[in-house]
Amino acid sequence: MDTTLLPDEFAGLDLLATMVVVVSADGECLFANAAFENAMRLSRRAVQKSQLPDWFDDSQRLVETLAGVAANQYSSSRFDAVLRRGAWAHEDGLPVHVIVSQMDPADDGEPRVLVELIEIAQLARQDRDERNLDQVQATKELTRNLAHEIKNPLGGIRGAAQLLALELQDGDPELTEYTQVIVHEVDRLQSLVDRLLAPHRKAQVVGDVNIHEICERVRALVLIEYPKGLDIARDYDTSLPDFRGDREQLIQMTLNIVQNAAQVLHSRIAAGDAQIVLRTRVARQVTVGKQRWRLALELHIEDNGPGVPAEIRDRIFFPLVSGRDGGSGLGLTLAQTIAQQHQGMIDCESEPGLTNFRITLPLP
Ligand SMILES: Nc1ncnc2c1ncn2[C@@H]1O[C@H](COP(=O)(O)OP(=O)(O)O)[C@@H](O)[C@H]1O
Ligand SMILES: [Mg+2]
Repeated sequence: MDTTLLPDEFAGLDLLATMVVVVSADGECLFANAAFENAMRLSRRAVQKSQLPDWFDDSQRLVETLAGVAANQYSSSRFDAVLRRGAWAHEDGLPVHVIVSQMDPADDGEPRVLVELIEIAQLARQDRDERNLDQVQATKELTRNLAHEIKNPLGGIRGAAQLLALELQDGDPELTEYTQVIVHEVDRLQSLVDRLLAPHRKAQVVGDVNIHEICERVRALVLIEYPKGLDIARDYDTSLPDFRGDREQLIQMTLNIVQNAAQVLHSRIAAGDAQIVLRTRVARQVTVGKQRWRLALELHIEDNGPGVPAEIRDRIFFPLVSGRDGGSGLGLTLAQTIAQQHQGMIDCESEPGLTNFRITLPLP
């Protein structure tokens, strides 16, 4: 990047995730921020002095709007458009929402116009994340209330079954067996309910944590369980700083996800080519739910397994949703709760052969 082309007064715009271009009234690019260059895969030099309307599928609309805004016919205007990506002309266009606004003239009095371009896919993703978060919140509350309601009578049922067993002591052994079934099933329900309530009960123990120390710990634990046929590779960004968090909880969160991956990899483990990758990265200007963070860490847990079954893909973070025999469907719910307790979140992209669970945790 050639920084001499970067007017100081716009430097702050490089921090934005939204594409921003400052143009003259006739559409010449005076400045484009880093988000625009990245999305268009253009260098700053290629953008500078080019005509912004040239990057639009329908350039006329922008030309008219720019003229209108610059002439103060209206102070701002919005419309949807499709961006053509520079050198990759054969690539699909990029649908964007365009906001054109007036701004102060340059020092020499030339009128300037601010153009914001918001990726429509990104808008949709943010909407979806927010909806998911609300839904998770609602489900969590329902689960907690339901768990309490179930928990209360369980003690009574267990006690009554034990009394019954005493009464039957010298009687029919088959009847005694029934009471054992009741006690056994009550205990199973009890432990399920306890696990449903667990994440809300324990107080957080906050200290300095290092994400790589957590990854190493989880890696070692899982490799003990799967000593053969499973490769757990690491790709760490060691520049990531320590942060404040509950180490034990974060280990549990990571372990739940890595264990799921190992479980779905069973046939590849047998074949000897199962792979999980633990990848850490820095992320800038991330939005988690409704909050925005300047800096965050991303931990990607990738596996080359069969992918999340399509019929549960949208619901895997909900309690009791499981795609495997004997699964409780609580592992990812707990992991998501722990991430949220650290102001973070987990999302998942999955196709056969590549599943990626991404944990985003804000950094100070
Ligand atoms: N890496 C993965 N690849 C494919 N499916 C997965 C993966 N991780 C989770 N899943 C699916 O999500 C379901 C829910 O996981 P989880 O909440 O941990 O519950 P459980 O492991 O008890 O089934 C799993 O049963 C599985 O079907
Ligand atoms: Mg699990």
